[in-house]
Amino acid sequence: MTPSRYLLTAALPYANGPVHIGHLAGCYLPADIYARYLRSKNLDVKFVCGSDEHGVPITIRAMKENKTPQEVVDHFHAIIKDSFAAMGISFDIYTRTSNEIHHKTAQDFFLNLYEKGLFEERETEQYFDEEKQTFLADRYIIGTCPVCGNPNAYGDQCEKCGSSLSPEQLINPRSALSDATPIKKKTKHWYFPLQNYEAFLQQWILEDHKNWKNNVYGQCKSWLDKGLQPRAMTRDSNWGVKVPLSDAEGKVLYVWFDAPIGYISATKELIENWADYWCKADTKLVHFIGKDNIVFHCIIFPAMLKAHGDFILPDNVPANEFLNIEGEKVSTSRNWAVWVNEYLKDFPEQQDVLRYVLCANAPETKDNDFTWKDFQDRNNSELVAIFGNFVNRTFVLMHKLCKGKVPVLHQQLLDEADKKMIEEFSATKAKIESLLEQFKFRDALYEVIDLARKGNKYMQEKQPWIEAKQTGEDGLPIAEAQIKIDNCLHICLQLCANLAIFINPFLPFTAKKMCHLMKVLDKMLEWENGGKLKLLSTGYSLRPPELLFRKIEDAEIAFQVEKLKAGLVKPLSDDTKENKKVMDIKVVDTAHEGEVAATKEEIMVKQQINFDDFSKIDLKTGTIISAKKVEKADKLLHLEIDLGFEVRTILSGIAEHYSPEEIKGKQVVVVTNLAPRKMRGIESNGMILMAEDKEGKLHFVNPEATIANGSGVS
Ligand code: 2FM
Ligand code: ZN
Repeated sequence: MTPSRYLLTAALPYANGPVHIGHLAGCYLPADIYARYLRSKNLDVKFVCGSDEHGVPITIRAMKENKTPQEVVDHFHAIIKDSFAAMGISFDIYTRTSNEIHHKTAQDFFLNLYEKGLFEERETEQYFDEEKQTFLADRYIIGTCPVCGNPNAYGDQCEKCGSSLSPEQLINPRSALSDATPIKKKTKHWYFPLQNYEAFLQQWILEDHKNWKNNVYGQCKSWLDKGLQPRAMTRDSNWGVKVPLSDAEGKVLYVWFDAPIGYISATKELIENWADYWCKADTKLVHFIGKDNIVFHCIIFPAMLKAHGDFILPDNVPANEFLNIEGEKVSTSRNWAVWVNEYLKDFPEQQDVLRYVLCANAPETKDNDFTWKDFQDRNNSELVAIFGNFVNRTFVLMHKLCKGKVPVLHQQLLDEADKKMIEEFSATKAKIESLLEQFKFRDALYEVIDLARKGNKYMQEKQPWIEAKQTGEDGLPIAEAQIKIDNCLHICLQLCANLAIFINPFLPFTAKKMCHLMKVLDKMLEWENGGKLKLLSTGYSLRPPELLFRKIEDAEIAFQVEKLKAGLVKPLSDDTKENKKVMDIKVVDTAHEGEVAATKEEIMVKQQINFDDFSKIDLKTGTIISAKKVEKADKLLHLEIDLGFEVRTILSGIAEHYSPEEIKGKQVVVVTNLAPRKMRGIESNGMILMAEDKEGKLHFVNPEATIANGSGVS
């Protein structure tokens, strides 16, 4: 069935930080290319997205920064929205889940299932942080992964091995908020019986959607093979969509229950006839996501939609894999990422270069690597040397040899090479179309560049500048030569117009510039014009050449690599220049290292402080007089430190770096006025300074020569 309308969604990003290029490559760029392609065919398309403003990622960030969740989401929603707009991601709406309309839509959805009696109410014992007086679900709880041994796995997932977890599975669980060992406490929640939808999902995915991408299909199959379990759709929290029941004080909807409903609320906010897009079978719904969201979009949300009954299901969920950076996994906590807002500052007006590189190297079938060197190479040897070069040569020669006008095409005098070149227009169009329909964006983009490459080859073979030297007595090219020049440049100019149409979904800024050069309206970019030879009228005068792309220099790349390595890119809330200070020594709060790595990133690039701020920190020399391991804590050492005026107990997270024996007698620098913290039942009264080298090994920071304990350090 040919769809009557398309509804495209891109994963709602958490508003707990800016977006990085991995996000763009993962789903926003492919979704945008697809949306632009469909719109260029004049199809009815709605492309919706918005910020995901609930859930633990937001509340944790707020707690760490001593802000309210609302302050956090307000700040990042604006940054994210601006980054997408600047990159040309053409959402029809970019909204947010804190909007009233979303709360209402999500609550109505919940009530619909509730009233059908579909939820199972269960009282269970869950982990509870006594210090913070809060239940610990999802990312509020950290512990050792039972599958791979990662000591920092979350209560819902281990990011190291990708296993989906429940808090009960974690070994040595601890609170992400206080590091305290949690207790168990009773609480009531509403569970959605996913297992009842197994048969439906088996049929709908494994039988009816064999055409889904292998990575998506494979992940779904493995979930279904393992068997589905009931899943709690509510949480104890005061941040989120309130559970719309009278006996649900202090409960909100699970973020993965409300977020996908955000697609529905976004459409409602966008158009009055939103129900046409969500309830009519002739709508094609496509969810663009990253691979970590597959289970939610292919299993949980479809089961919810099925249970509700009023809505259509996705036709496809083309998830991409992950984009690594310079050979390493992106880590927002380690600040190993290329932030889109930073890129836009460093490369203003170069949105299409990033769009090009991220699409040409998209992680469509497996994780891929982004390197700055590859970024430079693809720009310089593909965009500049192939695409830009072809358009530029055509315009230069047209001005030199054809008086700046589109020359006439002598149809009867076309040779084989001319005909072959013309045939490529429609052949390429067909290939791009077929690839885009299959969500093979990188192969489709390759076809566009390959067409420009063919254009260069054609022009090189035709050599109109040589023909121009065959002049008669009047100094003008002889008639036969002029015919060859005209035919070649006519074809090359029509090829430029075709290239603009084909590149438009991928590099919209470039297509626009090309329209300006050709003095045509954007309407020319409509897909149906692709493949045609008569897009530019004979005799029409065009603008002088302007370069579409510029070379990227080695120094610019070296700067980016350095910036990435030095951790100069600041992912935190305040992006003023004064804050871009790198400390010589990365001071690591070793006892709280596992607390959630955001602490580290905050320490890595700190806000500027004045002297008064600094003088509040009481640093003193001390000597470790005893050290021993802390039971059930792999990282912690229990130290007794002689400060001259007293002996202090300090817990330090250095057990993986030093044995108790080797550090006895070591002089150290201690932050003596740090508020006490209890860990594993022991109160720690201060912190010792450690410096971290590139390999992550910790080294003591101490005076050059041993001096009296209790000496001030400043
Ligand atoms: O992984 C994430 O960033 C989630 N905020 C994606 C949500 S997608 C949808 F369900 F809204
Ligand atoms: Zn693991």
